Amino acid sequence: MADNKPMRLWGGRFEGGPSDALTRLSVSVQFDWRLAPYDLLASRAHARVLHRAGLLTQEELDRMLGALDDLDRACRTGEFRPTVADEDVHTALERGLLERLGSLGGKLRAGRSRNDQIATDLRLYLRDHVRTIVSRLVELETALISQAEENADVAAPGMTHLQHAQPVSFGHQLLAHVHALTRDVDRLRDWDRRAAVSPLGSGALAGSSLPLDPAAVAAELGFDAPAPNSMDAVADRDFAAEFLFCAALIGVHISRLGEEIVLWASQEFRWIEVDDAYSTGSSIMPQKKNPDVAELARGKSGRLIGSLMSLLTTLKGLPLTYNRDLQEDKEPVFDAVDTLLLVLPAVSGMISTMRVNKAKLEASAPDGFALATDLAELLVRRGVPFRDAHEAVGHLVVWCQVNDKDLGELTDDELAKVSPYFAVDATGASVRDVLNVHGALAARSAFGGTAPDRVRDQIAALREIVDGQAAWANES
Ligand code: ARG
Repeated sequence: MADNKPMRLWGGRFEGGPSDALTRLSVSVQFDWRLAPYDLLASRAHARVLHRAGLLTQEELDRMLGALDDLDRACRTGEFRPTVADEDVHTALERGLLERLGSLGGKLRAGRSRNDQIATDLRLYLRDHVRTIVSRLVELETALISQAEENADVAAPGMTHLQHAQPVSFGHQLLAHVHALTRDVDRLRDWDRRAAVSPLGSGALAGSSLPLDPAAVAAELGFDAPAPNSMDAVADRDFAAEFLFCAALIGVHISRLGEEIVLWASQEFRWIEVDDAYSTGSSIMPQKKNPDVAELARGKSGRLIGSLMSLLTTLKGLPLTYNRDLQEDKEPVFDAVDTLLLVLPAVSGMISTMRVNKAKLEASAPDGFALATDLAELLVRRGVPFRDAHEAVGHLVVWCQVNDKDLGELTDDELAKVSPYFAVDATGASVRDVLNVHGALAARSAFGGTAPDRVRDQIAALREIVDGQAAWANES
């Protein structure tokens, strides 16, 4: 078949050919060609079912499977390529089959439609790629956990409202990002359970009058079950929308991490230094070293969110069942997959190679009167109502600001002068005992707290979870 002669799967009832404008609008092969390996998998399963239904002889089945294998090989080597004249991936592959088998190639289309095929292909593609995405997430989780382990004992300023609030273990803060990512992986695994339904056998919308076996096809393609309603099967794109939500939320999570990296690497913070391999320079300012990976991670979240909005808007208001609008499902899905596979390795590399300025973190941890809560809680342990303790410590902070002192610099006399609550007690204990950052960290030792021992427990628990996630990505 000549490359420039349009190949169509639907010419029979038309007198004239389509206009150029329609052809240009309609063609999707430039982006759906990446589904070819999945379409071929589904075709092999369909051929076997046609054989079992008595619609292909054994000899025909053998030739059909041989041709599908050869076409698969030719697609992978690039020997067989779609042309501008092929409308979509299904059309291109039918051409390849006809080139190999002549009229026998035309038998494969029996009992199926591009409507159940495309829904099947996209599910197969996504279930496959979700596993790769999970592997990339596991790498990022692992990079963050290693840095957390290295920095479990490092005190850092913990912030609310981007203001110093209470000191935390820097490892604790890094692990907070890991928890968000483990939920992302959970969500994808849960998504996979719902996506494991096979539309093949639904035909255009109503099923087939041929004695096909949707359950056998589903099992061969690794799905848990065939779709129980053929109309839902060809119209449903929930699996694509749900995937895009998962991708958008991953985008939001790496954007928040990216924003922290940008702040931490700034002159004002100097908490970390991003490795040269993950930084860029300026074309005019010779001194500049910019955290572009973190910024691109933050920026890419915009397009991930956009892809979700794009598909939801396409789906809204579509009557059942298949409508051509549904062809618009693929580009947002492919873009989200490509974006995640591009950005996640860069973020992992940036995290695993960044250098943490432990001295700067430790020095800044008590700044901004970050131990004020510890002082108030000490008074509570001495029997002072928290309301009064809060008030007294507030006055002390103002006194320090007026006298240009830090809480840690105060003498027992100065403390007693501000309030009798702060005087040395009957046992000779000074409130100054709680004014040290590492004591403050160690004191927060309940489950989930920032005490370094609890951080180490978290690391052990997270490593187990992440190992399970890696195994899921590799085995299923
Ligand atoms: N290219 C189409 C899509 O992506 C395949 C299904 C075409 N079905 C049809 N009835 N025209 O949705």
